[in-house]
Amino acid sequence: MRIDIITLFPEIALAPLSESIIKRAREAGIAEVKAHQLRDWATGKHRKTDEYLCGGGQGMLLKPEPLFAAIEELRTESSKVILLTPQGQVLKQATVRELSGEDHLILICGHYEGVDHRVITELVDLELSIGDYVLTNGALAAAVLCDSIIRLLPGALGDARSPEDESFSDPNLLEAPAYTKPIEFRGLKVPEVLLSGHHAKIDEWKKAQALQRTRENRPDLLD
Ligand code: ADE
Repeated sequence: MRIDIITLFPEIALAPLSESIIKRAREAGIAEVKAHQLRDWATGKHRKTDEYLCGGGQGMLLKPEPLFAAIEELRTESSKVILLTPQGQVLKQATVRELSGEDHLILICGHYEGVDHRVITELVDLELSIGDYVLTNGALAAAVLCDSIIRLLPGALGDARSPEDESFSDPNLLEAPAYTKPIEFRGLKVPEVLLSGHHAKIDEWKKAQALQRTRENRPDLLD
């Protein structure tokens, strides 16, 4: 898979993708990620990428011309163009899974008050938010999206089974609590059932715990 990120802050977008599992996946050629400086497509003496809002209002908006130029240069027949914005649909694991099947993603990172709406109507296939809060720009959101996708690509995780067993594999249930050694720490013991070797009982315990945890932390998933 190839991912092109268009941003005013390429280093912010790439930093989280330059360590650990994602770094290795990139080095192995599983995902080819490039972060481009939007300003490189801006023209004029000052290479201006932003402008005041038409009709008034606070803040600045990314201008259409550099974004149109960037996307028209980078896109191919099979590209999917995604805008990271708090106005987008909230990212879910099901969407991550769908996107992991694409050939080429172009991620546009909003900044200031966002982007000129003509970019969205003419070029963008999907608007995504990574949650109901506002970041200073979309570069971090793009990194989050890339991480979530790349780890699902075949060969990215050492243990091929691991994505199947985690929270949101069943979209309505969180993962059960997990324990490791020591079996007793500061008087706190690992639940007996996990040491029993009885797999059916362990599965039953995990299901009940997952349900309880979901009820406590994410009751919205059970509605
Ligand atoms: N840009 C600013 N906030 C964002 C968010 N929550 N998701 C995606 N892009 C953003």
